[in-house]
Amino acid sequence: MAEKIPIGADHAGFALKERLKAELEALGFEPVDVGTHSTESVDYPDYAKAVASQVGEGAVTRGVLTCGTGLGMSYAANRFAGVRAAVAWTPEIAELARRHNDANVLILPARFVKEEQGVEILRRWLESPFEGGRHERRVAKIEVDE
Ligand code: RB5
Repeated sequence: MAEKIPIGADHAGFALKERLKAELEALGFEPVDVGTHSTESVDYPDYAKAVASQVGEGAVTRGVLTCGTGLGMSYAANRFAGVRAAVAWTPEIAELARRHNDANVLILPARFVKEEQGVEILRRWLESPFEGGRHERRVAKIEVDE
């Protein structure tokens, strides 16, 4: 069964989301599009929450978000326990976000990456493993004791 990967964007990330969705399908994943579905202005937290809540609950293992800078999406997504949402603007950053930080949500700054760069970033993030070891301890310390 294909892995479900929720993907969301605001109006600034809409076009890139469509391209990334097609790439996920081509790679054999099942993208679950939580919107938005046009370039009409919307509020990014609504889409960050739709993706990050699924990752935080463990319903899926990873998700993808995009907005203009990636920042608003990251603020909203990282409020969910267990979510490690990384803004990546190069494939190298996406790889390190996996290897060192076990990033389970990838966020792309749509206004600062070209679509094909976005695809490369997505592919690198999908294929890069978490290294564990010393990074395991550090990642565990991220979780806040309530
Ligand atoms: C929308 O104009 C823009 O503010 C949004 O996409 C994002 O960059 C927010 O962080």
